[in-house]
Amino acid sequence: MTTTLITGANKGLGFETARRLLADGHTVYLGSRDAGRGRAAAESLGARFVQLDVNDDASVEAAAKSVAADGGLDVLVNNAGIELYSADGAVIGAAELTADVMRDVLETNVVGLVRVTHAFLPLLARSAAPVVVNVSSGLALASEVADPASSRYHYPGVAYPASKAAVNMITIQYAKAFPGMRINAVEPGHTATDLNRHAGRQTVEEGAEVIVRMASIGRDGPTGGCFTSGGPLTW
Ligand SMILES: NC(=O)c1ccc[n+]([C@@H]2O[C@H](COP(=O)([O-])OP(=O)(O)OC[C@H]3O[C@@H](n4cnc5c(N)ncnc54)[C@H](OP(=O)(O)O)[C@@H]3O)[C@@H](O)[C@H]2O)c1
Repeated sequence: MTTTLITGANKGLGFETARRLLADGHTVYLGSRDAGRGRAAAESLGARFVQLDVNDDASVEAAAKSVAADGGLDVLVNNAGIELYSADGAVIGAAELTADVMRDVLETNVVGLVRVTHAFLPLLARSAAPVVVNVSSGLALASEVADPASSRYHYPGVAYPASKAAVNMITIQYAKAFPGMRINAVEPGHTATDLNRHAGRQTVEEGAEVIVRMASIGRDGPTGGCFTSGGPLTW
C-alpha cells in the first residue's frame, strides 16, 4: 500500500490528483491550510485530512508527526502554490513588482516547498520506494519565456516564473543528494483553476495526469527530471 501526501489538495490540481491516486489504491493525505475546506474535501473523496500550511513551521511539523505516527509516507506531492494579482485583476509585472509581492510568492512556492520536504524527508527515507513530485510550471523555462515565438514569452509576471525556476533547481539538487529517492518536477500545462482565474485551457483531469503519473513511478522510475503529459522536458 502506497501512502501519499499532497499539499494544497483542497481544490484544483491537488484535489484532482488526490481523487486519481485514491482510485489507484493509494492511501492519500489531503493537505490543506484551511481545516474546514480541507476536511470537507477529504471527506468527499475518502482521503485522510491533514492540516498543513506550507508557510507555518508548527503546522508542517505537526503534520509530519501525525503522518509518521500513522505509519509513514512513500510519496510527497509538493503541489501548494500561489500567483498574485493586482487590484485590477492583472498579473503583477515588473513595473508593479514590490519586494513584498516577491517575498510572498517565494515564501509559499519555494520556501514552503523546502519546509515541507525537509520535514517529511525522514519519513520518506524509511519508505521502500520514496518519491517526491514538485509541481513546477512551463513558465519556469527560460528558453520558453525568452523566446518571442513561445506563448510563454508574453506572460508578464515575474515572481511566479522565478519561483518555479527555483523549484526546478531545488528538484535537480535534491535528486542528486538523495539518489535512493525518485525526485522530479512536473509541468501540468495551462489548466483552468483558481490560480489563473480559470484562464487555463486544460481541465484539471488533463492537468493532473502528469502529477499522478510521476507520483506512481515507484523505485525504478526516473529522477532529477521535469515531465509533462507529453514526456520529459529539457531543463
Ligand atoms: N493551473 C495551472 O495552469 C498550473 C500550471 C502549472 C503549474 N501549476 C501549479 O499547480 C499547483 C496547483 O495549482 P492549481 O492550479 O491547482 O491552483 P489552485 O486551485 O489555486 O490550488 C492551489 C492550492 O494551493 C494551496 N495553498 C496556497 N497557499 C498555501 C499554503 N501556504 N499552504 C498550503 N496550501 C496552500 C491552496 O489552498 P487555499 O484553497 O487555502 O488557497 C490550494 O489548495 C501550483 O503549484 C501551481 O503553481 C498550475
